[in-house]
Amino acid sequence: MRLRKKAWARPVLESCDFFVANPTDYLGRWNSIFGNSKEICLELGCGKGGFISKLASSTPDKNFIAIDIKDEVLLLAKENIEKEYLAINASTSNIKLMSHEIMIIHKMLNHDDSIKRIYINFCNPWYKNSHNAKRLTHPNQLNQYKSFLAPNGDIWFKTDNELLFDASIKYFEESGFSIGFITKDLHKSGFDRNIVTEHEKMYIKEGLKIKFLIASV
Ligand SMILES: C[S@@+](CC[C@H](N)C(=O)[O-])C[C@H]1O[C@@H](n2cnc3c(N)ncnc32)[C@H](O)[C@@H]1O
Repeated sequence: MRLRKKAWARPVLESCDFFVANPTDYLGRWNSIFGNSKEICLELGCGKGGFISKLASSTPDKNFIAIDIKDEVLLLAKENIEKEYLAINASTSNIKLMSHEIMIIHKMLNHDDSIKRIYINFCNPWYKNSHNAKRLTHPNQLNQYKSFLAPNGDIWFKTDNELLFDASIKYFEESGFSIGFITKDLHKSGFDRNIVTEHEKMYIKEGLKIKFLIASV
């Protein structure tokens, strides 16, 4: 179901202490906004935040940045993050949520941010050939990510979409990543560190197999 645009979303987001209104202001100095030098992990296209809220609240020894472009889903992400942290009485100091266009992510992250891990969960497959460059795993994007990934950093990518997955394997290889773990049936693979996202729940109900890989620089 399509979410209706909520005009009041922005002021509510801006009143939230873990929402970053101007992420480009922190280019190259994300450690300073977190106030420590813990590893930083990033989720691209966090949607309603089901994944990042569980991961970040249960991993206080790392910092997390969650990005989406739509205020109306970011608002739900904010609520889900608050709920998860409250449930375990934890501080939200290790998470930052923001609106940003991923196509130009180099404007908010660079080499000095040394991002340890990027999570890309169920991004749009962009079927038309003329739209392939909008895929979050397209080489244009992977090359941007390389500019701020830590030397031993990696990307965790999952999708229900076989076509996107197969194309992405080539994209990662072409862009100089090596694929360490790969499965076309994540839930039967024995991989025990998976956190199910909102879209993943939907695809599981439809009986689709989840494809997953870990690629390192
Ligand atoms: C299919 S949803 C997946 C949401 C979530 N990761 C999940 O697995 O449930 C993709 C999300 O990525 C966001 N998104 C897609 N393209 C984007 C872009 N270029 N920049 C920022 N966000 C984007 C959308 O707004 C949407 O919330």
